[in-house]
Amino acid sequence: MTSPVPMVDLKIQFEAIRQEVTSAVLDVMESTHFILGPRVKGLEEAIASYHGVKYAVAVASGTDALHLALLAAGIKRGDEVITSPFTFIATAEAISYLGAVPVFVDIDPQSLNLDVKKIAAAVTSKTKAIIPVHLFGQPADMDEIMEIAKHGKLHVIEDCAQSFGAEYHGRKTGTIGELGCFSFFPSKNLGGYGDGGMVITDDRNLADHLLSLRNHGSHVRYYHDEIGFNSRLDEIQAAVLHIKLKHIGEYNDKRRRNAKRYNACFTGSGIRTPSELRGTMHVFHQYTIRINNRDAVKKRLDDGKVTSSMIYYPVPLHLQAAYRDLGMIQGSLPVAEQVSHEVLSLPMYPELSETQINRVADAVKQAL
Ligand SMILES: Cc1ncc(COP(=O)(O)O)c(C=O)c1O
Repeated sequence: MTSPVPMVDLKIQFEAIRQEVTSAVLDVMESTHFILGPRVKGLEEAIASYHGVKYAVAVASGTDALHLALLAAGIKRGDEVITSPFTFIATAEAISYLGAVPVFVDIDPQSLNLDVKKIAAAVTSKTKAIIPVHLFGQPADMDEIMEIAKHGKLHVIEDCAQSFGAEYHGRKTGTIGELGCFSFFPSKNLGGYGDGGMVITDDRNLADHLLSLRNHGSHVRYYHDEIGFNSRLDEIQAAVLHIKLKHIGEYNDKRRRNAKRYNACFTGSGIRTPSELRGTMHVFHQYTIRINNRDAVKKRLDDGKVTSSMIYYPVPLHLQAAYRDLGMIQGSLPVAEQVSHEVLSLPMYPELSETQINRVADAVKQAL
């Protein structure tokens, strides 16, 4: 019996770039320059240039990218930061690390991103920033968000952990707000062979501050201007990511092609397929369908062993035990709650074959 189609298969991609990657990693080892060397600098320059921004600062993870970006933006204890309840917890954790308060605003039922019509009502005198998350690779409605932010003098820090290369009206995600934060977790659209992250910005002061924060509050070795962190991307990761960056256009195109193939398979099935909002380019970090009897379908899929599937995310953040102190109750963010019962993510990676997509889609339709 063939094994179930996996959610991601990093092995096929590695085989395709094996020569380049192993030789680059060997070079790093031979150089013995492992931390903050030429490869990190090279990757920062390449990623800044890919996005058409002035600065990119590599850090140790996407979580750190958000944490340090918030710090650089001056977010402090007691400040409120508006974000989505329907995201990976790291988005909110970064806010909590600073003693600031995440203010969860319900999501739009189509994009699954922050519902921009509901943001203004959540702004108070304590609100200092908004973190839109471009969930699953679908850009959030940035025009509206920037408008609200301008009006309230709020910082906008984009969580682009799932949206590397995605576009909103011709602009790449991460370049619209003041700071854009990326994750290079291995399964991300641009993924390393370990943890990693990046912050991009056009603001020189913010970039300078980030360079210091990621390296013990220091610009000059053994002189420390503030208490900082050890949050550096290492040279091996930078070397791998630089190679993969050359292929990111092709990887994202293939994800989009695969999403189209899934959509075609599901036409007329009553399954709600992911939408790509007008004027945006979705990069399908996840291909997430929505169905009413999700749990039963998932169980049948698991039993059938034809395909893997995952629930991103089963519990919205405002109902997580970690955020019980916020005192938010069931029913307070109805769209996020409803969606968390309906979503089912199917296998998605560039190298997924048409045959695999057909198998997955058939299995899902049968399980329904
Ligand atoms: C939306 C979102 N934000 C933040 C993160 C945190 O990134 P990392 O795992 O690199 O710390 C992730 C991914 O894990 C994510 O999906």
